[in-house]
Amino acid sequence: MDEKKTLTDSEKYAQETDRQYRYMEKASGYVSSLAEKLGRTPTCCVTTFGCQMNARDSEKLVGILEKIGYQCIAEENADFVIYNTCTVRDNANQKVYGRLGVLNGYKKRNPHMKIALCGCMMQESSVIEKIRNSYRFVDLIFGTHNIFKLAELICAMFEQQETVIDIWQDTDKIVEDLPVERKYPFKSGINIMFGCNNFCSYCIVPYVRGRERSRNPKDIIREIEGLVQDGVVEVMLLGQNVNSYGKNLEEPVSFAKLLQEIEKIEGLERIRFMTPHPKDLSDDLIEVMKQSRKICRHIHLPLQSGSTRILTAMNRRYTKEQYLELAGKIRRELPDVAITTDIIVGFPGETAEDVDETIDVIRKVQYDNAFTFIYSKRTGTPAATMENQVPEELVKEGFDRVLKTVQDTAKIRAARLQGKVVDALVEEVNENDPSYVTGRLSDNMLVHFPGTADLIGQIVPVSLDECRGFYYFGKMVDKTDEEP
Ligand code: 5AD
Ligand code: SF4
Repeated sequence: MDEKKTLTDSEKYAQETDRQYRYMEKASGYVSSLAEKLGRTPTCCVTTFGCQMNARDSEKLVGILEKIGYQCIAEENADFVIYNTCTVRDNANQKVYGRLGVLNGYKKRNPHMKIALCGCMMQESSVIEKIRNSYRFVDLIFGTHNIFKLAELICAMFEQQETVIDIWQDTDKIVEDLPVERKYPFKSGINIMFGCNNFCSYCIVPYVRGRERSRNPKDIIREIEGLVQDGVVEVMLLGQNVNSYGKNLEEPVSFAKLLQEIEKIEGLERIRFMTPHPKDLSDDLIEVMKQSRKICRHIHLPLQSGSTRILTAMNRRYTKEQYLELAGKIRRELPDVAITTDIIVGFPGETAEDVDETIDVIRKVQYDNAFTFIYSKRTGTPAATMENQVPEELVKEGFDRVLKTVQDTAKIRAARLQGKVVDALVEEVNENDPSYVTGRLSDNMLVHFPGTADLIGQIVPVSLDECRGFYYFGKMVDKTDEEP
């Protein structure tokens, strides 16, 4: 065996980590020269569009930016602005184009200003073309696979006049141990896998996030242990399809097994995950949730449509009946678990009868909450070239009917905890009334109650006095008042 010469993947990735730390040193030099010129610390702002995966990526960007000497601020008239974009629906793209115009205005007043774009939208070649032609003031463009290279890309940006563009089509690289700056000290997202292999026919994600790859369980556990030492009590395990976690590892590990290992981490109080695919949510997972003290009482189970005909065209690989059976099993085995979902209205060929089927599922499952989306045509996906696109008025009609049903059923579900005392993790001072704080329950509902900022990050018992649709008003109670 030629062990000495052949580097393992982890050794190669560790070398990449070292390389990036050297670029961070070099980039610090550029940032300090800028600081001298400006007579102050240069500022940066990272704006995130889209999902939790992007939010976590932004924390990695901020980690590197702070390491090289930028001061992060919330305002977009900073010296360096990064838009971390989303492209799952067209309105996300339109928002970015609209706001780029505003950034250009800032840049005209501050000639030192640099603008970067990254994230899912940048993985589309038509977008890059458009930015090259019509938004020439952008200094740096990179994609979803190479955010770990931010310091290296910043060096290139300071060294060359023209726009730096670095987009990778796909990757098998997972670079560990780079700086991360968390938005919340007490909770954190953790990537357990990247990419998606499902190719639902409406969805752009597999094209912009690449093929599925799982992180090593050891790296995940080590990261969470470090976070817990740093004050984190709640983690959200992130992946496009967490049920297929670990299948492509050299030594395959199931998602259920990973959860069991994470449960053992002392000091960690709550575990969430997002998103399981209904086609492969296992009995093992339900069993592990049943036994668990730490896994939160919430499953987000995207339905997309209740019509088997549409589900087939969507390439979801389950039927209405299979979905209902799974939801029924969860309700039976885990009665305290909230089920939420995603629904798309207006997929090509969808009729009023198909929408009736979706409404039937909503009534039967009684979702605790649901995100309803109007179908958005994504160029490059199979659904975009389907001929039977649904007229706008019909989509609107279906959308309103679905939304109304969701609201009615969710209201009933939400009220089920009224009068009970449950634990809430205090997340922030209430935006509207600073004498209140906002806490999150295990089932993901929010509760507002009188309290002060020093409670942030603590898990406290709260009585849920009044349900207001999707949230509660309550008050903190003594531990001894808690129900057994
Ligand atoms: N149009 C509308 N909604 C979409 N989603 C994904 N792709 C599209 C699209 N083309 C929704 C799905 C998914 C959620 C993250 O976004 O419901 O679960
Ligand atoms: Fe998109 Fe389907 Fe993958 Fe989810 S599972 S990211 S909807 S392709």
